[in-house]
Amino acid sequence: MKKTFVIAMFCMLGACQNGVEKQVQQLVGQMTLEEKIQMLHGHTMFTSGGVERLGVAPLKYADGPFGVREELEPHSWAPLRLTTDSATFFPTGSALAATWSEEMAWLYGKGLAEETRTRGKDMVLGPAVNIQRIPTGGRTYEYLSEDPLLSARLTVGYINGVQENGAAACIKHYALNNQENNRGAVDVRISQRAMREIYLPPFRAAVEEAGVWGVMAAYNKVFGSWCAENTLLLTDILRNEWGFKGLVVSDWGGTHSTVASALAGLDVEMPGDRYFGQALLDSVRSGAVPEEVIDRKVENILRVRMTVPPIEETSDVRPVSTPEHSEMAYEIATRSIVLLKNAEALLPLDLNKYKKIAVIGDNAVKKHAQGGIGAGVKARYEITPLEGLQQKIGDKAQIIYARGYKGFSRWDRQRTGVLGDVVLTGTGGMLSGGERRGMRPDDTLLLQALDAAREADLVLFFAGNNREVETEGADRTSIDLLSMQDELIQEIARVNPAIVTVVVTGAPVDLTTLEAFSPAMLVSWFNGSEGGNALADVLLGNVVPSGKLPFTFPMRLQDSPAYALNNYPNFEQADYSEDIYVGYRWYDAQEIQPMYAFGHGLSYTSFEYVSMQTGKNRYKPSDEVSVIVRLKNTGTMAAEEVVQLYVNRPESEVEFPPKELKAFRRVRVAPGKTARVTLTFPVNALQHWDEALQDWALEPGTIELWVGTSSDDIRLKKSVAVGF
Ligand code: BGC
Repeated sequence: MKKTFVIAMFCMLGACQNGVEKQVQQLVGQMTLEEKIQMLHGHTMFTSGGVERLGVAPLKYADGPFGVREELEPHSWAPLRLTTDSATFFPTGSALAATWSEEMAWLYGKGLAEETRTRGKDMVLGPAVNIQRIPTGGRTYEYLSEDPLLSARLTVGYINGVQENGAAACIKHYALNNQENNRGAVDVRISQRAMREIYLPPFRAAVEEAGVWGVMAAYNKVFGSWCAENTLLLTDILRNEWGFKGLVVSDWGGTHSTVASALAGLDVEMPGDRYFGQALLDSVRSGAVPEEVIDRKVENILRVRMTVPPIEETSDVRPVSTPEHSEMAYEIATRSIVLLKNAEALLPLDLNKYKKIAVIGDNAVKKHAQGGIGAGVKARYEITPLEGLQQKIGDKAQIIYARGYKGFSRWDRQRTGVLGDVVLTGTGGMLSGGERRGMRPDDTLLLQALDAAREADLVLFFAGNNREVETEGADRTSIDLLSMQDELIQEIARVNPAIVTVVVTGAPVDLTTLEAFSPAMLVSWFNGSEGGNALADVLLGNVVPSGKLPFTFPMRLQDSPAYALNNYPNFEQADYSEDIYVGYRWYDAQEIQPMYAFGHGLSYTSFEYVSMQTGKNRYKPSDEVSVIVRLKNTGTMAAEEVVQLYVNRPESEVEFPPKELKAFRRVRVAPGKTARVTLTFPVNALQHWDEALQDWALEPGTIELWVGTSSDDIRLKKSVAVGF
């Protein structure tokens, strides 16, 4: 144990790479075959083996991705019910993504790493970076964005935050795990171009830019072969093209073979040893798997083990979640909240005007750290919106709370018959049409809500989903709001039309009715331990909203690409025939008006996009395009804005979507001041995957740089020539 620790410290101090490689080789050379095999599978639910004789400690994994999961029994999913394993609940993936801030992602990673280490763990199972392909995807709330660049930048920030603070990160789920429905067997068929340009960029950036130490192979199949035994993904692309040096772990229960997985590039089977225990030992002895293949796997694990020293066990119980981490969660949450509309300037709330406020909706009191299937956080605490408002408003106004509707519950889910059939096998089910069953408006709750609304000067209506609706293991069958929320808001509007709606969700929902009856509306996500405080501060104007949508809210589910093309729902095979037209790329190309576009998010202040300037007018392939935007805060409040740079290719012969995000920058501007915002991207980021060449290629020509406050609100344009 001591020996490893010393080597690892040496490594952390930077004098590392060659030294580590040498030590790794030496250690492997000293191991028996049996000892090597011990390292390649799970010994408990979240530990893979070490070799005690040589001082190599077991590797301890912590679920992720939005907080350190509580301790489980060694061989089951049952919690140990300890009193020492509560943690900070960080905003979930789509909330983090709505900050459009690599710095916030870094902070997130730092907080997570510190809690991971305090809990004695080595590797965080996060970030989860699959592209949000379908609006109904069960894990949309865990994932980041529908856009590859936004996902990639946040992925890099998160991983750097984790790995610069002493833990290893593990990106998941590699790759193309874009649905939960039948995730354990569905076979993805996709063009190389769409795979390379849309779905792989966050994984590639994680390896090439952030040097991630772990990659989790997904449950599904790609081109007919399970991800945990997929040579194209695990060897050709991950190792040979990107140069990955860390370990590949299976998703939990996602290994399906011994020889095929071993040869394709899986390093660790988790949990258990069904394929990578005795069966692997036998396969080596019989010659089906060469021992050198085993050596490479052990080396991959040892490299991680030596960079991240094991935490010595002590009797000292330190608090996992600290006030500093609460502060981080708060900072992230405040920047994630998206102001969708603010007609009649209802917001920020003027407490001189609104003396009685009706807070209506189950989501005003609902907590989201846990729920549904899969990883959650036993949060040390979670401030609900109602608590946040009560605390911040104090006696400046009266708050009347009415629940209004019963949120979708675990019981509702059990009645649909899909709870609990998923995790170990990875066989997801889909919520059946029964998900609305039993959702009658509750007369008593309705009457109480109407009484509250009638009495009040203003209504804060809390709509949206909860973690029973959005869950691992099952996609939603629709984007409809459950629990008769649409009916309820219409009733409320009849007695009091001054409604500010807060949509608590991790994924797109149908906003048609809410939009029609809410003069003002925000999205506040599953926003972590400090979610309620952040929201109250935004509603009250202590913080100016600056979040931007990381995905499109469609008008109708049928407008979204996979649904429009009938590629989803599916069961055995998922044909991604929408190709590169994912998210806003599709709506733009098809000229379909979304409800709210990708990148949308308003402010309490106003910004003038004064001018843009580029460093040059012609760029060589090896150049970096740099754009300087002058941005003036023409309002009265200091605020942050996310400046977005898209590329349009008016003359292209290769097919491209009408616009693609190439850079973005969050900036704070004082009222009356003008900021100079620099945005850059390498010309190489304009490359497309050429199917004929089976390689990246740059098409020379004129491109237009479009700068805006949202993908559908472009303020400045400039043409430049590239590739000459
Ligand atoms: C999930 C992973 C998770 C693992 C361990 C799987 O069901 O897909 O994201 O890390 O379980 O809890």
